[in-house]
Amino acid sequence: MVEFRLPPKSRIDKKAGKKYLANQSAKKKKTFNIYRYNPEGDSNPTIDSFELDVENCSMVLDALIKIKAEVDSSLTFRKSCREGICGSCAMNIDGTNTLACTKSIDDIKGDVNIYPLPHMHVIKDLVADMTNFYAQYESIQPWMKKSSNSNNSENFQSPKEREKLDGLYECILCACCSTSCPSYWWNGDKYLGPAVLLQANRWLQDSRDEAKDERLDMLEDAFKLYRCHTIMNCAKTCPKGLNPAKSISQIKQMMVERKD
Ligand code: SF4
Ligand code: SF4
Ligand code: FES
Repeated sequence: MVEFRLPPKSRIDKKAGKKYLANQSAKKKKTFNIYRYNPEGDSNPTIDSFELDVENCSMVLDALIKIKAEVDSSLTFRKSCREGICGSCAMNIDGTNTLACTKSIDDIKGDVNIYPLPHMHVIKDLVADMTNFYAQYESIQPWMKKSSNSNNSENFQSPKEREKLDGLYECILCACCSTSCPSYWWNGDKYLGPAVLLQANRWLQDSRDEAKDERLDMLEDAFKLYRCHTIMNCAKTCPKGLNPAKSISQIKQMMVERKD
């Protein structure tokens, strides 16, 4: 029998986590159990437990910022806009991939468990390595392509043509969907995953783009597109309410139509 081994330093050391308690005077206590991993040294990851006064915190990101400011300045996470626009605070909260800045603390019963995005290499604490994800995004050439003989005139679009981009342009590339997709977990090096395929569809649906065939040629591959098994985790988890699985089926349909 083949013995299954986790990579070094990936197993959580359940006994080693630290515990921090809130002041006695705290008005509204909540406990945050947070995955910690320090790449320096030989220690395995731990779960640190922070009891916090969340009287003045509404979103999970507010609590993380409070912990970093008042309890442990080494806690590491990404954030920027604080309003669900940049996608950088994506993490696994209470068992679901979502944005820390739009996830309300009051929506979570009991302790708040926070991990990095699943099945990604972890750089430190809640910061996942997005190198492969961004390289895959680059591979679909996410910019408008015009044929060489098109002149430099304005690119008009009718309201109906513009409507086709609704449900696509709103994607903030947070990767919540891709990192919830079992097919992406197992084949993330070859399968493009729901986020990047939704972005590919965004350009395929754009009436101003003139490289539809070239784009479909790039996607015509047993792994890049056809690893989606319609499990729908992606649509369930998207914090922007988008449906990447629908984009994937639209691309598959375009493939069939052009063969016909
Ligand atoms: S489709 Fe949704 S979950 Fe996926 S990257 Fe875009 S915004 Fe994030
Ligand atoms: S529908 Fe496809 S892309 Fe979405 S989670 Fe399932 S397998 Fe992944
Ligand atoms: S901080 Fe920008 S989406 Fe959360």
